[in-house]
Amino acid sequence: MRRIAQSEPTPEAVLSGQVSVDLSAISDNIKALKKRTAAPHFMAVVKGNGYGHGLVDVARTAVAAGADWLGTAQLSEAITLRQAGITVPVLSWLYLASQTSATIREALEYDVDVSLGSVGQLEVLAGIAEQLGRPAVVHLELDSGLSRGGARKENWPELVAQARKAEQDGTVLVRGIWTHLAWADVPAHPGNAAAVAEFEDAVREARAAGLDPQLRHVSSSANILDRPEFHFDMVRAGLAIYGLAPADHLDPADFGLRPALSVTAPLVMVKKVPAGTGVSYEHQAITHEPRYLGLIPLGYADGIPKGISGRSLVQIAGRKVPVIGKVCMDQFMVDLGPDASGIEVGDTAVLFGDPAGGAASADDWGAAIGSHGDEIINRIAPRLPRVYESSAYECPDYQEAPSDVA
Ligand SMILES: Cc1ncc(COP(=O)(O)O)c(C=O)c1O
Repeated sequence: MRRIAQSEPTPEAVLSGQVSVDLSAISDNIKALKKRTAAPHFMAVVKGNGYGHGLVDVARTAVAAGADWLGTAQLSEAITLRQAGITVPVLSWLYLASQTSATIREALEYDVDVSLGSVGQLEVLAGIAEQLGRPAVVHLELDSGLSRGGARKENWPELVAQARKAEQDGTVLVRGIWTHLAWADVPAHPGNAAAVAEFEDAVREARAAGLDPQLRHVSSSANILDRPEFHFDMVRAGLAIYGLAPADHLDPADFGLRPALSVTAPLVMVKKVPAGTGVSYEHQAITHEPRYLGLIPLGYADGIPKGISGRSLVQIAGRKVPVIGKVCMDQFMVDLGPDASGIEVGDTAVLFGDPAGGAASADDWGAAIGSHGDEIINRIAPRLPRVYESSAYECPDYQEAPSDVA
């Protein structure tokens, strides 16, 4: 049984291509990853609409597979999880601290833990918590070198002192301390050990100030696979749960991980062209001999990178054929070669998916444009319907969310 998610797509939308998400791959990946860590807690990072796989479906699958925490960047994503009836702890780490923020208020009401990286944020959270009559549960973030969120080490003593004071006032409860590594995707880089040493100092300082953080967390996917000494009390797994390579030297298959997402589209036209035929805008490609061209109804409006032309292969009827000519907004062409026998209009073209099935992977596409698989999967446009394999319903505690969750 397959299920088409999001707003019911029109038949034309389905005919123009789809994103298939194999939730059993996400489930299996999480189980495999959990075996690689002794950390007592496992966070599945489901930000960015579950890395394009679908926020709520991924979250439910992750929880059923043993993730006891979920992580989102935006508070709105965390609120969506709660509104879907998901009750496991959720940490959210990116928000505009404003005393009048209805989103922060709602997140706190929904028991969402939030990251805290400055005294300014602390004042706002404490103020809102006071109005609500309950403490904001926070994870203090150390900026250990990424220069993104979090407090730098010179600002850390003031943050922990103020957090302790707010705990005593009953407006804040510090549940965790965390950092995100600048060299997260290069596990062997010496910058990681230096950042972790700084993190351990920060935890010591927090404890000396009277805080009692239960959860120390540092590692994302690459360090889950490669640096067990960085796992602390919880790991935060993103890319690896989706079966993508978290670092250039780490092949997901070596760790029993497989991609969950594939993008397919029907071949909507096959035509024979003579030698010397220009293909697509500005005739970026020109045939040297009579060739067959195939037309795929997906383009950069669907998230297909323009840079993929001439650099990647699409699988059709068991053959791998190159993308040629400029990728257009809604369509692109493939070179079916001098002989297209065995290929017909309506055949399914697999753009990328599980390499075990012979297709290119999202990582291959990422490498082809000088990036990584995460950029490829995250840019797939919402207009493409997501179709979920039936395995979602086999998750032991899978249940449809009630439509009227308060
Ligand atoms: C704070 C934080 N933790 C964990 C992750 C997961 O990283 P990865 O997808 O490499 O596992 C991310 C993603 O960028 C992140 O921003």
